[in-house]
Amino acid sequence: MNDLGSMRQTERLTSDEAGLAHAAEVLRGGGLVAFPTETVYGLGADATDAQAVAGIYAAKERPSFNPLISHLDSFGSARVQGVFDETARRLAEAFWPGPLTLVVPVAPTCTISDLARAGLDSVGLRVPAHPLAHALLQKTGRPVAAPSANRSGRVSPTDADHVLGDLDGRIDAVLDGGSSQVGVESTIVACLGGAPRLLRPGGIAREAIEALIGMKLEAGPEGGKSPLAPGMLASHYAPRARVHLNAASVGADEAVLLFGPEAPKGADAARITLNLSKNGDLVEAAAHLFSYLRQLDASGAATIAVSPIPETGLGEAINDRLRRAAAER
Ligand code: TXA
Ligand code: MG
Repeated sequence: MNDLGSMRQTERLTSDEAGLAHAAEVLRGGGLVAFPTETVYGLGADATDAQAVAGIYAAKERPSFNPLISHLDSFGSARVQGVFDETARRLAEAFWPGPLTLVVPVAPTCTISDLARAGLDSVGLRVPAHPLAHALLQKTGRPVAAPSANRSGRVSPTDADHVLGDLDGRIDAVLDGGSSQVGVESTIVACLGGAPRLLRPGGIAREAIEALIGMKLEAGPEGGKSPLAPGMLASHYAPRARVHLNAASVGADEAVLLFGPEAPKGADAARITLNLSKNGDLVEAAAHLFSYLRQLDASGAATIAVSPIPETGLGEAINDRLRRAAAER
């Protein structure tokens, strides 16, 4: 896959043992597989493999990175990835498997990539109820990141033909499981300490959730009243250091984020240098973006200087995140 989502043969897989086994094999190999869930079809990639997750953005032509929902086969698998407080545990036990996503703090044992979390210290987790999704997740044995399987700006697909209409030639396979039942995405609730917040209405009614936990859900992330835990519900990751875009030259105490074979003047004398992709591959660059920003920030430099990055393909999403980081203060 190149940065524009290069053409490849898309297989339509049947929902039998052989189709499932092949779909799991493709996912484990870093490929892209669309699969049915009870809400909508998801475009899946191994959530632990940032390069594979970058492929989702390339295939969808999405101009910005947001945190993705990682899908798991059970509450037990979800607990490896996230920390569940009492409320989150009760919601998981009542509504999983099903159309509920819980945003919880990352666990120390979390294996989900930075890119799938968009650099955040929290993670969106869901255990889908669709039997094919469940079987696929079990066979894959890894968390699977999956936004809806449509191109950016189009409607969410509820059958394999919709998926192919948007993504034929851009993904490795679609597992055909007929029509999705719910048709709207999962309800997203954040449990990050303090009152739980409704981040997105969806397949499970707010009332059902409020009845179970015995309290009203706060609006989130903007509309809420109670203060947020530091860094917890910020909608995007921002480094502590100032970010200087399109740097033409670099000072000795700056950290440098390079892209491609050329470096700005003074980069060789800088305190720390990381290259998103030496040969200018935007998918590789996207896969490294958040972890490299964190490493550069951890160096203690007051400024992170960033080489120019082209606005084509995934470069648009990379630049979007970098511009937000640069505008933060
Ligand atoms: O029904 C669904 O949920 C579908 C099917 C395929 O499962 N999936 C879906 O995934 O809609 P996705 O990745 O497009 O959902 C992304 C949304 C983000 O826009 C954000 O609202 C929320 O999930 N989200 C995920 N992780 C988050 C986090 N750490 N903090 C805040 N919001 C998060
Ligand atoms: Mg969508």
